[in-house]
Amino acid sequence: MGKVYEATVTAPVNIAVIKYWGKRDSALILPTNSSLSVTLSQDHLSTRTTIRASPDFTIDRLWLNGVEEDINASKRLVNSITTARKLREALEEKQKQDGIPAESVVPLSQWKIHVCSENNFPTAAGLASSASGYAALVSALGTLYELPQTTSELSRVARVGSGSACRSMFGGFVAWQAGIADDGHDSLAVQVADRQHWPELQALILVASDKKKAVSSTAGMQTTVETSSLFAERVRTVVPQRMEAMKEAIAKRDFETFAEITMRDSNQFHAVCLDTYPPISYMNDTSRAVAGLVHAFNSARGRTAAAYTYDAGPNAVIYALKSDMRDLVELFTYCFPREDSILPDAFYPDPFSIFDSPEQAGHRLTDPVICKLANTVGKYSAGSVRRIIHTEVGDGPRVLPASQSLLNDVGMPKRARE
Ligand code: DP6
Repeated sequence: MGKVYEATVTAPVNIAVIKYWGKRDSALILPTNSSLSVTLSQDHLSTRTTIRASPDFTIDRLWLNGVEEDINASKRLVNSITTARKLREALEEKQKQDGIPAESVVPLSQWKIHVCSENNFPTAAGLASSASGYAALVSALGTLYELPQTTSELSRVARVGSGSACRSMFGGFVAWQAGIADDGHDSLAVQVADRQHWPELQALILVASDKKKAVSSTAGMQTTVETSSLFAERVRTVVPQRMEAMKEAIAKRDFETFAEITMRDSNQFHAVCLDTYPPISYMNDTSRAVAGLVHAFNSARGRTAAAYTYDAGPNAVIYALKSDMRDLVELFTYCFPREDSILPDAFYPDPFSIFDSPEQAGHRLTDPVICKLANTVGKYSAGSVRRIIHTEVGDGPRVLPASQSLLNDVGMPKRARE
């Protein structure tokens, strides 16, 4: 068998603390404002993608979580792949110009590809995977094609797949600079600080059950741009100030400022959604109860010890420092008891598992002040929070060894479902 041209990578999920909402160009996915996010650990949430290029393949093919999808059905997917192929083509051209004999230049840009992609988190968790998905796709193509572009330059390719995906090209704290150019060359992600910068910062994802299908981000933000008058103010003055203040808070590891800006920005994003006509509402009763509980927790602590943020759905992401996390987990698990029927894997992974010792995280309310707060608030109906995922700040896309490939010898998925 000849040489196999293949790459396998994993890429992380990111959760914005300054939200991206609104496009100035929907084809190129250029945003109306800059945004900033925290990359979460790939140990708990990530997408793994293997891509192989071969002269034997007759068409491009794609498998998502074991099921074959029409790779040409999504314009965004086609755009990302085409853009990466063009970069490879330019590289092959350059190699020839540099005097490398034509027969030694591998024409990967001309070969069809097989793309196989899997999430390591249950789909039932209700977490959006487009950001980690496109970041994994582009990282795998960048590795396979040996592209010389920097990660920021490659983030533009992830951006044309899904805006927020450009931020998953880096670990730690990441800004997506909106840019001003019409061709989008300056609309890319840059790392603000790496994951080691603030190791005490952790995250808790509260998956709120929701039967209704939300308005997609893409459609929702389009209507907002067209109809909301609050939105213009957000883009013009609020976000630019917050971007600077947030970068400073991260540089100084100033949690209280980080937390307040995070909550205010989430609230403003959802206010702008309500100001959209017809209005869009992503948060549900559970989301609002969680936000209320975070403010009550902060009052009990006498400082801003936790922050919530919500994307285009009812799930809450809570940021807090490790030293406050145990009490928070205890409070949430008390006030939002799990439903017995989904008990076995309701917590994914066990939210107590990342504490140093099991004793440190008794499944009880240990702090008397928090215990009093929990009793005052009482219990919400079982199962309104379906899962709690306890995680931390993580690194950017990782290149895995060939042994981790999702494709077999002939380039077909090792695990396929009908
Ligand atoms: C609310 O990146 O999913 O999560 O660019 O149309 O694919 P498209 O939208 P998407 O929007 C994410 C919006 C958000 C806020 C954020 O992540 O910044």
